[in-house]
Amino acid sequence: MLIDRLSPVLERLPLLPFLFRVYERAVALTPRHYRRNRTASFAPDALPIPPPHLMMTVAGSPESAVFFDGGYQAAAGIREILQRNEVAIEGRRSILDFGCGCGRVLRFWRDLPGTKVFGTDYNPELTAWCAANLPFAEIATNKLEPPTNYPAATFDFIYALSVFTHLPEAAQTAWMTEFYRILQPGGLLLLTLHGEHYASRLTESERREFRSGNLVVRYERSAGTNLCNVFHPEAYVRRNWDKEFEVIDFIAEGARGNPRQDVWLFRRR
Ligand SMILES: C[S@@+](CC[C@H](N)C(=O)[O-])C[C@H]1O[C@@H](n2cnc3c(N)ncnc32)[C@H](O)[C@@H]1O
Repeated sequence: MLIDRLSPVLERLPLLPFLFRVYERAVALTPRHYRRNRTASFAPDALPIPPPHLMMTVAGSPESAVFFDGGYQAAAGIREILQRNEVAIEGRRSILDFGCGCGRVLRFWRDLPGTKVFGTDYNPELTAWCAANLPFAEIATNKLEPPTNYPAATFDFIYALSVFTHLPEAAQTAWMTEFYRILQPGGLLLLTLHGEHYASRLTESERREFRSGNLVVRYERSAGTNLCNVFHPEAYVRRNWDKEFEVIDFIAEGARGNPRQDVWLFRRR
């Protein structure tokens, strides 16, 4: 495709991440999306709905129905994979939504009895919205790379939905070490990743890399935005994070609310 051939040139544009944010805002303002969102300021859960451009940044669509239904599905998917491993989210004492965006999933933990709910993201516009509108959660803003300000062993469950899908390898490695630090021994980590399903979208040379068990990273300089896309072969995950984390479950294309990403559940060693 033309865009694939242009990408080495585009990638070098210093303003590319900024231009991508402008594009996200422009899509959110198109009359079709504007009309559809005009009437909705509260979702079925009676919590506020974020502005369209923030929903666009986290869900790839500025529409409230897509945002809410996707978040509902993702939260149900988290419950499901925990349950099939005999864990109830209600039994967790302290959970972190890493890359929480504007609370698409976080909002579904409002009524958890006895669980402290935390969210963090590197985009301050997203975390400001969460802090103002989701008062049951403790919200922080982190840097693109670790550390966080959380003390060691703060959490017994961390999840990051479609976050490593937008982070280059060095940042991922650093975050896995940080997750190890802030998770309690035996604590659980859930990640959703672009796996085999996405191989058909890769160029031939990228697919060769992927099939050799290597990570494929596009638009590395736009790390953290949805322009930076990362693809994880199953073999890469099993090989690289094994020292700190044991894989306890893997469902290919099983990430509800983030179709068709793979879902991985790890236990901190
Ligand atoms: C595709 S969105 C998904 C948001 C949210 N997890 C959800 O499922 O709705 C990716 C999110 O990861 C966040 N993100 C990217 N890099 C990050 C980093 N280094 N630290 C924290 N958040 C990050 C982005 O700001 C964005 O909110």
